[in-house]
Amino acid sequence: MPSVDHDIKDLALAEQGSRLIEWADRDMPVLREIRARFEQEQPFQGIRISACLHVTTETANLMRALKAGGAEVVLCASNPLSTQDEVAAALVAEYDIAVFAISGEDEDTYYRHIVAAVDHRPHLTVDDGADLIGLIHSTRRELLDSVIAGLEETTTGVIRLRAMEFDGVLGFPIIAVNEAQSKHLFDNRYGTGQSAVDGILRATNALLAGSTFVVAGYGWCGRGVAERARGMGSHVIVLEVDPLRALQAAMDGFRVMTAEQAAPLGDIFCTATGGKQVLRGEHFARMKDGAIIANAGHFNVEIDLPALRELAVSSSTPRPFVEQFTLPSGNHLNLLADGRLINLVAAEGHPASVMDMSFANQALSAEYAVKQAGTLENRVYVVPPEIDVEIARLKLASLKIEIDVLSEEQQRYLKSWSEGT
Ligand SMILES: NC(=O)c1ccc[n+]([C@@H]2O[C@H](COP(=O)([O-])OP(=O)(O)OC[C@H]3O[C@@H](n4cnc5c(N)ncnc54)[C@H](O)[C@@H]3O)[C@@H](O)[C@H]2O)c1
Repeated sequence: MPSVDHDIKDLALAEQGSRLIEWADRDMPVLREIRARFEQEQPFQGIRISACLHVTTETANLMRALKAGGAEVVLCASNPLSTQDEVAAALVAEYDIAVFAISGEDEDTYYRHIVAAVDHRPHLTVDDGADLIGLIHSTRRELLDSVIAGLEETTTGVIRLRAMEFDGVLGFPIIAVNEAQSKHLFDNRYGTGQSAVDGILRATNALLAGSTFVVAGYGWCGRGVAERARGMGSHVIVLEVDPLRALQAAMDGFRVMTAEQAAPLGDIFCTATGGKQVLRGEHFARMKDGAIIANAGHFNVEIDLPALRELAVSSSTPRPFVEQFTLPSGNHLNLLADGRLINLVAAEGHPASVMDMSFANQALSAEYAVKQAGTLENRVYVVPPEIDVEIARLKLASLKIEIDVLSEEQQRYLKSWSEGT
C-alpha cells in the first residue's frame, strides 16, 4: 500500500501512468534541469505545497520537481473532468505524492478534494483558477498567516486575485505565473491553440478544411485557436469586445463581426474569453443544424448552458463528449465536453513541450517566493523578469538554437540618445 494519503480511481493504473509521465518528461528539458538543481540544493526543505492543477502528465512532472527540492506535496484537481486517472495513480504509487482527484468526480467530491489539499496546511499554494486561495480566504482563514505565497497559473485566476487585491482582501502575496511572457505567449497561444483544436477533432472527427470556425475572444488563447483553425483550412471568424483586439484580428486577416452575425454562419464555435454568456439563447436559435459548440476558457460559463437546455426539446449523446440538443425548429446543436475546457476534457491538454515553460515558471516562482518569504506584501506580483528570460534562454538551448549577443557598443547605442540623430 502507498504511504501517502490519496483518493484516486484505481492504483492498478500506476504503471501505465508512469510510462506516460516519463514520455512527457522527455519533452520537458527545462523543468528537468530545474529538477536536477532542486535535488542538489533542496530549496523546499520543510515546505508544504498544496497544488490544485489539471492532473496531467505535465503536472506530474512539476510535482516531481517540487518534491525533488524537498517539498511535501499534495495535489488535487482544478477541474472535475480533466484528471488523467493513470497519472494520479502513478503519482501516489510510484512517486509518493498525495493525490485527491478522480476523473468525472461530482461537485461534492471535487470540493472535498480541495479541502483535503488545504488540510495539508500549505506554505505555498499552486492554483489554476484560484480554488485553493478562494477556499483558504473563505472558510480556512486561520491558515492565511502561514502561507508564504500563492502561485496562479491562468488568466481567469489572475483576474480574480487582482480583484481581491483591489478590494484589499488578499491575505497573502500572489505570484501571477500566467503573466510571465514565457508562459502566456506560448502556453495560452500555441498550447491552447493546438490542443483546443485537437479536443474538438477528437470529440467529433469533424473536417476543418472548408468549414466556418468561429472563435470568441482574440486574447492569447483565442488567437492561438484562430491561427490553428485557419492553418487547417477553416474560414475563421473572430468575435471580440475590445476594439484594439478586434482590429488586430481584422488586420491578421480574420473576419470580425458580432456573435449575432456569426451565429448562422458557423459550423464550429469555440469560446476563449474568460467571460460569461458569450454564446446565448438568441445565438443558439440562429445556428445551423449540426453546429458544434465548444469552450476553451477556464470556466464552463462562456456558453449559456441553462439557456441551451431550456431551448432544447430533447438531448442525446451520440459520441463521448458530445451532447446533441434538438431545438423546436428540428435543428441539432452539438455541445462538447459539457462546455468545459475542451482541450483538457476531450484531449490531453497542452503538449508537454509548452508546459515545460509554464511549469518551469511555477517551479522557479515557488523557489523565489520561499527565498523572499516575509518580504513580499499581500499583492499580486508578476514573475521576476530574470526568471522569465532565463526560461526562454534554457528553452532555446534545449532546442539547440543559438542567438546573437549585443556587443558593448550596440548595448551603449541602444541606451543612448545622442548618437545617430
Ligand atoms: N484551455 C486552456 O488550457 C487554457 C489555457 C490558458 C488560459 N485559459 C483560459 O482561457 C481564457 C482566455 O485566456 P486568455 O489568456 O486568452 O485571456 P485574454 O484576456 O488574453 O483574452 C480574452 C479576450 O476575450 C475578449 N472577450 C471578453 N469577453 C468577450 C465576449 N463576451 N465576446 C468576445 N470577446 C470577449 C477580451 O476582450 C479579450 O481580448 C481564460 O479563462 C483563461 O483562464 C485556458
